[in-house]
Amino acid sequence: MLHRKALFVVILLSAVVIFFVQCLTSNPSNGNDPRGRFFAGANSCITCHKDIASSYLHTNHYKTSGETTHDGLKNFINASNNKVYYEDSALVILEEKTSRFYQTYKMYGNVLRSEPLDIAIGSAEKAQTYAYWKNEQLFQLPLTFFASRQAWTNSPGYPPRMPYFNRVILSRCFECHASYVKKTDFQTGPLEMSEKLASSSLIFGIDCERCHGPATSHVEFHQQNPNATEAKFITVIKTLNRQRQLDICAACHSGNDLDIQRSLFAFKPGDTLANFYFPHFGNGGSEPDVHGKQMQLLQASKCFQQSKMTCSSCHNTHQAEEDKLEIFIASCNACHPSPNHKMQVATSGKNCIDCHMPLQVSRSLDFNNGKERRSIPYLLRTHRIAVYPGGKE
Ligand code: HEC
Ligand code: HEC
Ligand code: HEC
Ligand code: HEC
Ligand code: HEC
Ligand code: HEC
Ligand code: HEC
Repeated sequence: MLHRKALFVVILLSAVVIFFVQCLTSNPSNGNDPRGRFFAGANSCITCHKDIASSYLHTNHYKTSGETTHDGLKNFINASNNKVYYEDSALVILEEKTSRFYQTYKMYGNVLRSEPLDIAIGSAEKAQTYAYWKNEQLFQLPLTFFASRQAWTNSPGYPPRMPYFNRVILSRCFECHASYVKKTDFQTGPLEMSEKLASSSLIFGIDCERCHGPATSHVEFHQQNPNATEAKFITVIKTLNRQRQLDICAACHSGNDLDIQRSLFAFKPGDTLANFYFPHFGNGGSEPDVHGKQMQLLQASKCFQQSKMTCSSCHNTHQAEEDKLEIFIASCNACHPSPNHKMQVATSGKNCIDCHMPLQVSRSLDFNNGKERRSIPYLLRTHRIAVYPGGKE
């Protein structure tokens, strides 16, 4: 009896001690991160990783979603580039009202519908699409900015005859295009479910902890041990095996048509991605689409099969990728110092990429320009590195 009492006191005391220790070691995110206290938030990385944190701001991962700004949109909208016609009498036009932009559906001059561009998805490297909030749901707007053409188009997959305002943006988009959003499932019909998204929980852009995992303990340790030079309480990606390293990128670069079992927001470096999908994960089809399927395409290359390459062999995700052709070519040359070309092809521009990773048209993303019903090709680099007929096709 006495024994049990003593044990109880010890447990109680430890609980009190743990409680005080937790209060003393202040959580760097002040418990404000919607993902919980294990996440420190991107601002807390800046003090110690200044260079990476500042170069990262310029990447498309960082810019891949956000609230729209008036000035940002202004770059894409002008009097000759602000509408799409569906019929001669029906159009959607981008309108500025009280310093916000709206997409307004007009027929014979009458306004049938007008909704604001609240948020943007896509960095606009290639395209940017928009959504508006209504009753804790986000709906995709009819017009998407297609940056490679500097033109407004009907949003991908939308019917060319009539503007559409009702496609719900689910949390799944944000699993690849943001760092977090809290969702609640609700019933919309006898057999239909949808999701409400808590706007205050939305962390736009892909932040450090999206790839590196929750880092509060790491931050606390290094704040308290400023002389420690070896990283603690953070996964050292370089030491993971090849498949686990690939999984970090493949989480978002294996396409969107796989059956997902668990939210990718829970994925941390070191986790096995296959556990997040239903069993057929990995059979990305015989001809994976260039949109979003970099992993499957790369896997189909001899370069990948006969070497130990990972995505990091060519990409440094901490830096923006403009004008880095030289670096990519250097990465080819690292393994192919003197490629054996029968013809004198490669010597001129030395652009290995145009011939061996040519731009291809996506089959899964289809844009059109409304009235003329013209579909606009969405071009991406294939990651199946190979010899293509005609060299440059
Ligand atoms: C108080 C200082 C401090 C803060 C704040 C901090 N780190 Fe670190 N971090 C370090 C030190 C020291 C190292 C080890 C030296 C190095 O690799 O720069 C390190 C290393 C790392 C590594 C490399 C691990 C490896 O060796 O591959 C990652 C990844 C990392 N930190 C991520 C983060 C993230 C994400 C944040 C913000 C959530 C963060 N750190 C905030 C001090 C800090
Ligand atoms: C898209 C995924 C991704 C994001 C986002 C990301 N990292 Fe990394 N980071 C990596 C990978 C992959 C590596 C390992 C690279 C290698 O193998 O050399 C790495 C390595 C590191 C390292 C150790 C090696 C080095 O370059 O010093 C640090 C420190 C680090 N990251 C900090 C950060 C910080 C801070 C942020 C946010 C500003 C961030 N990372 C955002 C993927 C990411
Ligand atoms: C959380 C999801 C996510 C993860 C994890 C992720 N990516 Fe991405 N990545 C994206 C999205 C979304 C885009 C499109 C960004 C845009 O332009 O809006 C993208 C774009 C890119 C681009 C094009 C960059 C550019 O400048 O246009 C490269 C290269 C890339 N990712 C490589 C990687 C690599 C390598 C890793 C692993 C270290 C990785 N990604 C991890 C979601 C992710
Ligand atoms: C499985 C991850 C994934 C999901 C889910 C996903 N995307 Fe993407 N998205 C990507 C990747 C990766 C890219 C860039 C590279 C590519 O197209 O292959 C991209 C590119 C884009 C772009 C063009 C960005 C640019 O400028 O390059 C837009 C716009 C976009 N996605 C919107 C959406 C919307 C809207 C949804 C939800 C309906 C969605 N995406 C769902 C991974 C995803
Ligand atoms: C990590 C090493 C590595 C890197 C980096 C690499 N490759 Fe390869 N590549 C290989 C290996 C190994 C093979 C198979 C043996 C061979 O054909 O030389 C190969 C094969 C090829 C082939 C023949 C493919 C076929 O189907 O017959 C081409 C073409 C090629 N690589 C081009 C490139 C280009 C272009 C780049 C840069 C974008 C590149 N490789 C980067 C290792 C690499
Ligand atoms: C103008 C298009 C073109 C350019 C540029 C080009 N290649 Fe090739 N490459 C080809 C063609 C076509 C073949 C197959 C026919 C042949 O062997 O000539 C080939 C074959 C190859 C092979 C397989 C033969 C072997 O050595 O095993 C490799 C590897 C390769 N190229 C790498 C490269 C690298 C690296 C670069 C950049 C330095 C490059 N290529 C630039 C068109 C090109
Ligand atoms: C052998 C080098 C190499 C490897 C390995 C590699 N990439 Fe790339 N990647 C490239 C090149 C080259 C481009 C084209 C860059 C450009 O056109 O500016 C590219 C472009 C991209 C883009 C932008 C798509 C586009 O069409 O603009 C994404 C996304 C991407 N890579 C993701 C990945 C992911 C994820 C992995 C790992 C599964 C990976 N890459 C591995 C060389 C590579």
